Order: sequence, then C-alpha cells, then structure tokens
Amino acid sequence: MGKRVVVVGTQWGDEGKGKITDYLANKADVVVRSQGGNNAGHTIFFNDNKYALHLIPSGVFNPNIKNIMANGMVINPKALIQELEELKQKGITDFKLYISNRAHVVMPYHIELDELFETLKGEDAVGTTKKGIGPAYSDKVSRIGIRIGDLLKKETLKAKIDTSVRFANILFKSQNKKLFDSEAIYQEFVQIGEVLKPYVCDTSKLLNDEIDSGKNILFEGAQGTMLCIEHGTYPYVTSSSPTAASIPLNTGIAPTLITDVFGVTKAYTTRVGGGVFATEFEDETARRIRTIGHEYGTTTKRPRRIGWLDMVVLKHVKRINGLTGIGVMLLDVLTGIEYLKICTGYLLNGEEIDYVPAEYEDYRNCLPIYEVYPGWTEDITQVKSFEELPENCQNYLKAIEHHLGVKVTLFSVGPDRNQTVTLNTIF
Ligand code: IMP
Repeated sequence: MGKRVVVVGTQWGDEGKGKITDYLANKADVVVRSQGGNNAGHTIFFNDNKYALHLIPSGVFNPNIKNIMANGMVINPKALIQELEELKQKGITDFKLYISNRAHVVMPYHIELDELFETLKGEDAVGTTKKGIGPAYSDKVSRIGIRIGDLLKKETLKAKIDTSVRFANILFKSQNKKLFDSEAIYQEFVQIGEVLKPYVCDTSKLLNDEIDSGKNILFEGAQGTMLCIEHGTYPYVTSSSPTAASIPLNTGIAPTLITDVFGVTKAYTTRVGGGVFATEFEDETARRIRTIGHEYGTTTKRPRRIGWLDMVVLKHVKRINGLTGIGVMLLDVLTGIEYLKICTGYLLNGEEIDYVPAEYEDYRNCLPIYEVYPGWTEDITQVKSFEELPENCQNYLKAIEHHLGVKVTLFSVGPDRNQTVTLNTIF
C-alpha cells in the first residue's frame, strides 16, 4: 500500500516547502496542490536552473508523475497559462497535469477587489499579495463564484459571470471605480476554457483511484499554518487553510487516508506582509540573514521580515497538524552568527505562557523568552550526514527536537537538491 504524505509549512510560508516537495516528488506517483493560488511561490533549483512555480505542482519536472490541482485551489487561469508557457520555453513539455473542475477561478475583478479592500483597510491592510485570493474565496463561500468546470459550459457560463460581476460592480460603483463588462469577460473566459479543457477532470475521483491502486501521494503545502484562516494570526492570514486537516476537504479524499504529516521549518523565522511576529528583530544579523538567505518574496519580491526560531509557534503548528516529522531548512544561513536564539515561551502582561494567543491584541503584547545557543563558523554546505555537522549545529537541531518532541527527519544546507540530508525515509 502506498503512502499519503502531507507537506505543511510550520511558520508564515516560504519555509522551503518547494525544495522538499521537489525532493520528495521523485518518490511520489502523484503530487497534489490543494489550496491557495498564485499567492504562493515555490523556487526549485536543479541542473543550474531556477524554476519559480506559483500554481503548478512540483512534480511537473518528472514525466511519470501525475500532478493534480485540486478543488480547494483558486486558480487564475491567465497566470496558469503563462506558467505553462514558461515551462515550455525551458523545455519542460512532457508532463501530466490534471485540474479539478470544482476549483474556483480567480477572475479579473477579484484582483481589483483585493487592491480596493487593502486600500480601504488603510493602516490595517493585511499586506496581501494582491492576486485576488481573498475575493475569489469570498465569492466561493457567497456561492457566486465561477468554477473551472463552468468555463467549459458556454451555455450557462454567461449567466454565472453576470451575477458575479453584478455583485463586484456594486462595490466598484460605490468607490467611483471603473465597472467591469461581463460580456467582455465572458468572451475571454470561453477562450480560456478551451485552452484548459484538456487538463480538466474530477480530480477527487482520479486521486482516489490512484490511492486504491497503491500509489504514493504527496500533498504539497502552500503558505504556512500561521497564515491559516482558522488557526493563524487572524486577520493577518490568507483566505484558506494550509493545514493537514484541510487536505481531505480540499482534495476529496477521506481524512483517514493520510499516513504522514511532514512539517517544514526554517532554522529561523520569516514573514511577509503585516501582522504580529513575536521574535522579529531588525539589526545587522537580521540583514545578514536576509541577504544570505535571499529573503525576498518569490511572488511579490518584498523583503521578508526576519525573526528567531519560535517554538511556541512550532508547538501550536504541531498540535494542529499532528506532525510526524520535520525538515529544518536553510541551516547554512545561520553559519557565522555568534549566538542563536530560540524562543521557548512568551511573557504576556507579566505572566509566562506557552501558547499562541487567539486575540491579535494579546499576541501583539507578547514578549519572547529566549534560550541562547552558541553558533558555528564552519562551512556546512557540503555536509552529507548529521555527524559531519559542527557540534554547536548538532546541538541547535537537538534543541529543536527536544522542545518540539518531533524527530528532525531531514535538514537542508543549501538551495540545490543535493544539499539535503535525510535522517529517516519519508517515502
Ligand atoms: P493573500 O494570500 O494574498 O490574501 O495574502 C494574505 C497574507 O498571506 C499576506 O500577509 C501574504 O504576504 C501572505 N502570503 C500569502 N501567500 C504566501 C506565501 O506563499 N508565502 C508567504 N506569505 C504568503
């Protein structure tokens, strides 16, 4: 029987899930992306090439792997077509891609609405990627969304677009903005439907058939658990749930089918966009980490905020996802830093707490309590085993394991596929 492994981000996204997913993808028969849209960005390096994927699952580089974009996603079809084009230009043409007919479509007015809502929120803006993700999910739950399958039904598509555009235009009109023309959108999206048609199917059925025939399935995460609409730092979150719990719902499999939940964490912490971040700091060391770790957003190019590793966050994330192992990424970026800090608790109004407060106002007042670990200066980028790591680096990993109570299954010492050390097999 195959395994069904979920990869989840344990922080605020950008943990290096792309690299791990790509690394694990070669052992999988099917790779599934289940939520979010082109707000995500996976950077993958191999054969001296750099690939940035935003929508397409990472198994696309292996012609034997089936890649599924599942029902929980919100897909901007123009961005998808552009991504397919870019792959083609780099010679990646032999791949298997399946798009759920139940996935929702990010429409042009969703992108404008994202911009508008952010402007109207003023100082309280979320700092979204402005890709229309929130408004697309809003339309989905308001039951006026357009689904990928709708694009293939010309006869009924027009009425659906009319309704959705009518609602959007009420908002645009109230702000004296240019209104959207539903006829023009209809004409354009009928064409888009034709382009996507060969890829569209009932991916839940496909996925269950693959599971029944004993295949290994990899559910690749996008964003991180701290950006989860349910369990993240609301309202500074994304509009979907990037947790293991969301996988069954977002892909159409039974919850009992998941076998492993692999958490991916940076050796430190980063965040893009607004919102609370207890271990954030900005000084010479933070700037060094930003430069060496290339901590700029894959999607928006924004500089990422930098912080120390936060075990309160990781324990919260472990609880929600039931992590069965973790991968510690970008360990090499910490080389040369004299002292490293790990946050083990918070001080809230003079009281020590070990959980993530639900209320943003409380979380904002939390002060981190740190343990300090001596750093290392040796180059670790060619290391192939735990034993080869300098002692202080080993101790840093052991401290993570000790506080979290989850095995470090893997660590990464550089951007290349080969710079990955696995301590336990995942597939
Ligand atoms: P949205 O998903 O574009 O609505 O953005 C909501 C919040 O999630 C913002 O703070 C974004 O910066 C953040 N976000 C969304 N996707 C990612 C990601 O893939 N990596 C890191 N942050 C993300």
